[in-house]
Amino acid sequence: MNFDTPITIALSKGRIFEQTLPLLAHAGIVAVDDPETSRKLILETNHPLVKLLIIRATDVPTYVQWGAADLGVAGKDVLMEHGGDGLYEPLDLQIARCRLMVAGAKGANLSGNQLRIATKYVNATRSYFAGKGQQVEVIKLYGSMELAPLVGLSDLIVDLVESGNTLKANGLVPLEHIMDISSRLVVNKASWKMKHAAVVHLLGALREAVERREHSKD
Ligand code: PRP
Repeated sequence: MNFDTPITIALSKGRIFEQTLPLLAHAGIVAVDDPETSRKLILETNHPLVKLLIIRATDVPTYVQWGAADLGVAGKDVLMEHGGDGLYEPLDLQIARCRLMVAGAKGANLSGNQLRIATKYVNATRSYFAGKGQQVEVIKLYGSMELAPLVGLSDLIVDLVESGNTLKANGLVPLEHIMDISSRLVVNKASWKMKHAAVVHLLGALREAVERREHSKD
């Protein structure tokens, strides 16, 4: 694929980066540096005009929204909290899959009003409980939510669960499934318009890579 216009893609280190790389490779884009060993925040690729920005997962929608990156890869959890202003979300990459769940001690009370819920996912939590007609008090945390019910900060937590090992290690159990989470490709509306050919080309190649990978699992 030839890019005749500069394209910047925002990614976070770790799982999203590792699982996006093979999809980008299908589109002919290969990173020159490895973010795990390099401290560079702008990674060159085999295409002189295509660059990767390595940023925190929660910052990806912001960089894309403001046009500092044309595209990005972000979890649905992060996008829900961000609100999605100024972004299109044209493709579910079906990577970094997990579940957003209510969790707590075994047999914990899930009904009733004024339950205290500790979470990083304030918007998703409010709308989930509002949808059930329940008024809850949401306590915003930035990580290690599992600790909150153990020390009496909250009755329950809302967190991402993948293997369930973190909950188990802390004596907690998943109680209610809120939604399945996966990472999405996001594009800012200006880039979608101004760099349409390049963005649509890249989107097509990524869609094909996702479909192939899913078929190969059958
Ligand atoms: C996530 C999540 C849980 C854990 C779940 O944290 O917040 O703590 O993974 O995974 P498991 O079900 O496989 O144990 P992460 O490691 O992404 O870090 P974070 O606390 O910064 O979100």
